[in-house]
Amino acid sequence: MGEAWIIDGVRSPRGRGKKGAGGLADVHPQRVMAQVLNGLKDKVGFEVGDVEDVVAGNGSGTGDHAHDIARSSVLDAGWPINVPGVTLHRFCGSGQQAVTMAAMGIMAGQQDLVIGGGVESMSRYSPNHTDGFTANNKHLFEQYPLIPQGVSADLIATREGFSREQCDAYAVRSQERAAASIKAGHFTDSIVPIYHNDGQLALDKDEHPRPGTTLENMQGLNPSFEKMGTTLYDGHDRTFDQICKDVYPEIDGVTHVHHAGNSSGVVDGAGAILLSSPGYAKANGLKPRAKIVMTATAGTEPVIMLTAPGPAAEICLKKAGMTKDDIDLFEINEAFAAVVLKFQKDLGVEDDIINVAGGAIALGHPIGATGAMLIETVLGELERRDKTTALIAMCTGGGMGTATIIERI
Ligand SMILES: CC(C)(COP(=O)(O)OP(=O)(O)OC[C@H]1O[C@@H](n2cnc3c(N)ncnc32)[C@H](O)[C@@H]1OP(=O)(O)O)[C@@H](O)C(=O)NCCC(=O)NCCS
Repeated sequence: MGEAWIIDGVRSPRGRGKKGAGGLADVHPQRVMAQVLNGLKDKVGFEVGDVEDVVAGNGSGTGDHAHDIARSSVLDAGWPINVPGVTLHRFCGSGQQAVTMAAMGIMAGQQDLVIGGGVESMSRYSPNHTDGFTANNKHLFEQYPLIPQGVSADLIATREGFSREQCDAYAVRSQERAAASIKAGHFTDSIVPIYHNDGQLALDKDEHPRPGTTLENMQGLNPSFEKMGTTLYDGHDRTFDQICKDVYPEIDGVTHVHHAGNSSGVVDGAGAILLSSPGYAKANGLKPRAKIVMTATAGTEPVIMLTAPGPAAEICLKKAGMTKDDIDLFEINEAFAAVVLKFQKDLGVEDDIINVAGGAIALGHPIGATGAMLIETVLGELERRDKTTALIAMCTGGGMGTATIIERI
């Protein structure tokens, strides 16, 4: 098997994903991705015409995200028409999967220079979060009554016994670490400022973090998914909480612990990672920062949905012939506090080596873009700490997990 080298990565700032309130909300997602691609070009100085594919994750696929947003962004960026683009969907794991697919082409010896990344403009999402993940397929719903992710996260907390206080304490730590990273300028090099079409600056820094968040000022926040869990929606014969109890009869009910302060932020953004074969990099003077050691995916029970990062990480470690003790830093997407607490419990990972720069609770989770952002963030942390190896994992809709192990070169 050949090697895939990570040459570099960049991202947009994460803008609040609310119409009229977010810095990127009025910028078309193709424009955000296009500016990130050009930011990568400017940072690295590679020959864009040599890029054999741009693989982009996107978790929406409709409206302004429709069709092949990767190819549209390449054209919007003004890159040569020979550079193709392909868009893929693995829910929240789309961006990480895009980097994996970019690496696979190179490791298989079929490609030399590929970009993996993704984009999401969550400010364009419909406010209806209650339609689940079955896309109106009643036959699938009878087998797997897939429920909204916030209720699944509360189900994890209920089953694992994670209290509201534990989830809040985790969230405060995410905010503290993100605030420290921002204050120290650790994200500055990788952030590409995004402009409106008229040349005015749209956003050049992350908008979602709330520095100074404490346990006390989160105490008043109401659980966000309690009403969703206990309401009987049209077309349903039971509530989402009742579904949880039917699928997991050992619970007495769902304890709703997640709220706006300990769930991932709804944001807009894009990220991109440049990958190269060693041969192309050497011939063209590209200096690698790391290599992809192994990637893996896992599927677990889809109603609880968000429990697969641990299994995906275990598969990835096993395939790489490694154990968790070989990993210096873990980067696990903070979809909800309980997801990371469950991962830590599954693998026995200590607090001081996981999500050390803060995560999506503070910074936001722009679905299709997040995977590439996590890889870039943890690579920067490896370099700052003079460490070698990191494992990145994410939970996704449909009960899947994605994992990647990277190693500095
Ligand atoms: C949880 C969620 C529903 C909250 O959405 P929201 O209610 O629109 O969130 P907001 O940012 O408006 O915050 C709500 C309130 O909490 C407050 N708040 C948010 N974070 C806070 C913090 N850290 N400390 C104190 N207050 C906070 C806000 O100030 C706001 O208060 P206000 O109503 O008085 O203005 C939303 O963030 C969400 O759905 N997250 C998960 C997204 C997701 O599922 N992604 C995929 C994961 S797999």
